[in-house]
This record gives sequence, structure tokens and C-alpha cells, in this order.
Amino acid sequence: MSEVKNEFHVEGSPTPAPVVEIEKNELPNPGSFVHTSDDNIVKENDLVLIYISKTNIRPLVLHKEGRMNTKYGTFLHTEIIGKEYGSQIGKYMNSNQVNRGRKHQKKNGVQEEEDEKKFGFIHVLKPTPELWTLSLPHRTQIVYTFDSSYITERMQINSLSNVLEAGTGSGSLSHQFSRSCKRLFTYEFHEVRKQQAELEFRQHGLLYQDYLDGKIKDKNSANIIINHRDVCKDGFLVEQVENINGDAVFLDLPAPWEAIPNLNKPGVLNQNKQVRICCFSPCFEQVDKTIEALEENGWGGIEMVEIQGRNFEGRKRMVKYIDDAVKVLSEQKERRNVGSVNFKKLKKARQELENKSVTEIDESNDLKRFKTNSTPKDEKFNPFGKGLRIKEGDANYEWSNVTKIESEIKSHTSYLTFAVKIFNIDRQE
Ligand SMILES: C[S@@+](CC[C@H](N)C(=O)[O-])C[C@H]1O[C@@H](n2cnc3c(N)ncnc32)[C@H](O)[C@@H]1O
Repeated sequence: MSEVKNEFHVEGSPTPAPVVEIEKNELPNPGSFVHTSDDNIVKENDLVLIYISKTNIRPLVLHKEGRMNTKYGTFLHTEIIGKEYGSQIGKYMNSNQVNRGRKHQKKNGVQEEEDEKKFGFIHVLKPTPELWTLSLPHRTQIVYTFDSSYITERMQINSLSNVLEAGTGSGSLSHQFSRSCKRLFTYEFHEVRKQQAELEFRQHGLLYQDYLDGKIKDKNSANIIINHRDVCKDGFLVEQVENINGDAVFLDLPAPWEAIPNLNKPGVLNQNKQVRICCFSPCFEQVDKTIEALEENGWGGIEMVEIQGRNFEGRKRMVKYIDDAVKVLSEQKERRNVGSVNFKKLKKARQELENKSVTEIDESNDLKRFKTNSTPKDEKFNPFGKGLRIKEGDANYEWSNVTKIESEIKSHTSYLTFAVKIFNIDRQE
């Protein structure tokens, strides 16, 4: 299998472009993004997403003779074909991979148990627009799921909506829209980007033209009409359809105010409904100009929103007691006073003495200390000192439930400007 190299400059992409192991012109089995069938078994020539880690999800078309290299080693495609979607596939790592892992873990200050490092896992997943957003080859900045889900809901996009999108870019949002709407008209003025997006839509069974040509049977999923067009200069009308009758418009362009007047042309927007627009702009000056253009062209109900999506991860944190902190501080003071060599000897002697007396301590008293963290039954552990490595949630210790917030926001934050327009006040709604 050859790799399709990313030919495009990535404009400030927050994640590196992943390796896409799909031949340029190969057509996987149709329906990879359609989830209506009960058949959950991975087949040869299926387009699958291989989950290696949170930041490494790889699109892959499976072939009998195919191989996939990962940090855990090489997986043969035949190890994946025949499994159920969602399956975890494991691999023993060779000593080189284990050592590489060890170095990496040392750098991050994490010490892992020996045998935990020797097994690597991947998961085989069915593509969804959300997973595609995390795994697609970036040709431009993209719209992430935090924004796209809000945009879809806010513009009330449903299975009866015709949606206009400019520009197509990497096709991240196009996949989301395609799943929710009746027909998507998407426009891209960069020819190579348009061709690349068109190829992906074809490989994913989403092109309307392929339905018209009889190559795809499912009219509901093959609903994208992609156009090579500068919407600011040449507007939105297309040859394939006389009246677009758009119900929702999404503009992710450097100058949306130049495209907004072109929406007034007859046949572009639905005259019998309330039509919604959203403009995605990274800077406030652009928002300003967009609002001006919207007002001049009869749009109302203008609102600007910024999405700051973050994941919250549920974790357990060990409950620590003041006695333990006091113990660490007094030990530090003692070490300073007697010197580290004498302190070690002193500590060893004390430990031997304590170990002797531990056997004489009443069992219930021992258990009480154990539960309050300070000193487990048979090991000396102080949660403030350099203690043992304790597994999160270990039932022998006390834990409180906490949340950890992602440090980085996984989206290119932009301002979303929404507006509505009613052409015909006596509309039939
Ligand atoms: C930021 S990208 C869009 C990313 C897309 N929303 C996604 O989620 O993948 C903007 C795209 O608009 C295209 N573009 C800019 N001006 C345009 C115009 N006047 N007409 C059509 N496309 C345009 C650019 O070539 C670029 O690919």
C-alpha cells in the first residue's frame, strides 16, 4: 500500500496531519459512513478508522495482503478483517519497542510496571463524522465537533434542509452537515483542495453525482454537490440544480461580507421559510464587517457566539491527611540536622524496630491506620513522600472523585455570527 502524502500547506493546524493509508483512487466498500446495517463485522476493502491513541486515529482501507505499522508493531490487515467493529486487537511488543516506551515514560517521569509495557492495543472503529474530524488529513484549519454540533443545532439543520457551505476546506464540517441534511452544496475555490475533498466524499459514498450516475443506491447519504467556485465573485448558483432553495448557509471564508450579497440572487435561498446563516471568523474585525453586510442585506436577529469546548475527565484523587504532611516535614528537618548518611541509618534502625512491634499491634488498630492512608499494613507509604506507586482507586486507600480539564482546547476558536432572514412575510410555514 502506498501512502498519500499531504500535498498541502497546513495553516496553523493544531494537530499534525496523520498518515492516510488509502490509495489515491481506490474505492472502498460503499456505506462506510452509513450505520443502518446490523452487520457489524469488518470486511476486506472496508474503510475503517484505527484508534491507536486519542491523538492518533488512522483511516485505513483493508486488504488481504495489507500491513499497518504502529508504535506497537506491525498489524496485518488479516488480523483486523473478520473482527467485530469496536474490537480491541492486541500485540506483544518486541524488546526495541518496549525500550523505546521505557525511555519515553522516564522522560515524562512515569514508571510503569515491567509487564504493562509489553502489550500494545489498537481498536477498529466504524467511521463517523466526529471520528473523521479527528483523523482527516488537514489541508486547512478545520471546524471541530464542539463548534459543528452547536452550528447544526442552532441553524436547525434536519433531513429536509438544503445547506450551502463555503469553503469546503478539508471537508470536516461537510461530513457533519451531510449526515444531518437533505442536500449539501459546498464550494471551494482552491482547485486541488476541491479535488481532494471530492475524492474523499466519493470514497465515503457521499457524492450526489455518484447517485445520479447509478454508482450509489442510497440517495439519503449520497447528498453532497461540490463545486469549484469563488463564491465572492461568482455566487452560489450551480448547473446541476435550477433552484438550490437553501435553508441554511455556513460561511468559513476570509471575507464572508463579499459573499453575503450573492445570497440574494433568485433561486439561492428558500423564499418560503426562515433561512439561517452562520459565519465563522477568527477575528473581531471580520465579525464587524460581516454584521454590517448582514444588516445591509436584510438579515436580522444577529447574535455572536464563541464556543470554548473542553473535555472534563473524571479521576480519583487520594485523600491526604495533615499528619502525613507533618511527618514528611519533620523527616526533612531531621535529615538536615543529622546529615543524609546518618539519617538513612537512623531510618533503617527505626523501621526494623517498628516492623518488630507491628506484629504485636492489635489487628483492628492496624486496619484503621491502613484505611486512613498513612501507613499500609505491610508497606511504609506516605502520600506526600516518595512512596510506593499506588494504582488509582486502590480499595485499600481513601479517594475523592475529581475532574481534570483538558489543558488545550481542541478547536480553532472563532466567533460564530448567526442571523436569520425572512424573504416572504406571507410564507407558508
Ligand atoms: C478554513 S477553510 C474551511 C474549513 C472547513 N470549514 C472544514 O471544516 O474543513 C476555508 C476554505 O475556504 C476556501 N475559500 C476562501 N475563499 C473562498 C471563496 N471566495 N470561494 C470559495 N472558497 C473559498 C479556502 O480555499 C479554504 O479551503
